[in-house]
Amino acid sequence: MSQITLEDLYEKGIKMHHITNTAYPLTPGSFMRYKVTDAREIKKLLKEDIEKLTALSLYVHVPFCQSRCKFCEYAVVSGNDAEKKEEYVQALLKELDMYKDIIGDKKILGFDMGGGTPTQLETDQIKRITDRLHQNFNFDPATEMSIETTPVIAARDFDKIKALNDMGYKRISMGVQTINDRLLEAFGREGNRSIYEQAVENIRRAGFDKFNIDLMYGFLDQNMEDFKTTLDYTIDKLIPEYITLYRNRYKGTKIAKEAEGVTLDKVNGQYKEAHRILNAAGYEAPYGKNTFSKLAGDYGTSDYLTKRVIEGLPYVGMGLGAQSFGHQYLAYNEGASTKTLQNYFDKIERGEFPIQDIYPLPESEAIAKMVSVAFYFAFVDLEQFKARFGIDFEEYFKDEIAFLTERGLIEMKDGKMVVTEAGVEQVGGVIPMFYSPESREELMKIKKIF
Ligand SMILES: C[S@@+](CC[C@H](N)C(=O)[O-])C[C@H]1O[C@@H](n2cnc3c(N)ncnc32)[C@H](O)[C@@H]1O
Ligand code: SF4
Repeated sequence: MSQITLEDLYEKGIKMHHITNTAYPLTPGSFMRYKVTDAREIKKLLKEDIEKLTALSLYVHVPFCQSRCKFCEYAVVSGNDAEKKEEYVQALLKELDMYKDIIGDKKILGFDMGGGTPTQLETDQIKRITDRLHQNFNFDPATEMSIETTPVIAARDFDKIKALNDMGYKRISMGVQTINDRLLEAFGREGNRSIYEQAVENIRRAGFDKFNIDLMYGFLDQNMEDFKTTLDYTIDKLIPEYITLYRNRYKGTKIAKEAEGVTLDKVNGQYKEAHRILNAAGYEAPYGKNTFSKLAGDYGTSDYLTKRVIEGLPYVGMGLGAQSFGHQYLAYNEGASTKTLQNYFDKIERGEFPIQDIYPLPESEAIAKMVSVAFYFAFVDLEQFKARFGIDFEEYFKDEIAFLTERGLIEMKDGKMVVTEAGVEQVGGVIPMFYSPESREELMKIKKIF
């Protein structure tokens, strides 16, 4: 057992709050010691791990955007790669075929097409991908497919948005982020009120009634007034069913150096105010949850994300840089680090899974991964945890639970470990309590944020 006390870990986690978030592991290099590199071994590992599942979700990544927003952390290509959409679709279809053999007829309980911006593809390209998914995999009839768009595309291309609805996408998510002109310009992102309003009109006319808007906070030059203006406008004028608040994660972005200037007080204050405003407007979420929903009994997130967060349901990600979390492996596709297409294309051309890094995980790491992501909803469902790992959560984390309970950071109720308001404010310290021993050591050694 390591020497690190829970107190040390908690304090360090709070200091490093910009990196101790729901994304686990801490750094891209954290799991290198588990890495498998041989292509045949990778295939065997995938086969053996996925064989153990009865159901899973799928994710497809589309790495194209109008241009790259400076705050964005996702796998988005630029330069020449941005022109290679058809080549990409063809490679992606081959990847879907490779997984067909491995996944077989296991039930697909969630599906998201994300990015990037999936709607940067032509309608016909999205349709070919969607059709192939349904040909290759056993979608549960109740699974609701979800897709992402930008306001600019939704505003300019009604036919495409309508086609998505016709293809069976029932939830659509659109990033607004901020309506502040100064911030939009600084981030290199196009947007104005007439675009947002036209986008909403088209999305509604296309038949979507599960519509989410993403807003962001935690930017250095974003004051409370800016944030509130965006919130009020979204609530009053755009009126989506769901609003998701993203606190900016700086790691790996073009504005990473700004992180030092963004205090915990500032982000906590922004979240608190947003929670109050949204709840007053009928958008509900327990304190600490990022997605607010106007529909009773509806979490507001896609099936893919909801099941990932609550049940730890395994998922296979396909496309550039996509992440997969199987029964007990974690993988990132080619492009996760380089954000370029060549290696992804080359591996597929050679008939190999286009995986950049794959790690069979010890149980402690798989547990840490599931619990970290549960903080997206600010609770851990004890029964779901037991179903996923066959382990009693309260026994496994006995000391950590006692530590957090004594400080009023969590409470155990109705079969859940619920993060309290104080716990949400110090969540960067709470999450590492559930890290593996190795990740605790790693966190204690980190000196600088980035
Ligand atoms: C992959 S984007 C898809 C939406 C679409 N591309 C758009 O920008 O309208 C999903 C969401 O992630 C959020 N996001 C992007 N960069 C982020 C970052 N660095 N930290 C936290 N959230 C981020 C944004 O709110 C964005 O809408
Ligand atoms: S925020 Fe959306 S549009 Fe901007 S670069 Fe990221 S994925 Fe693309």
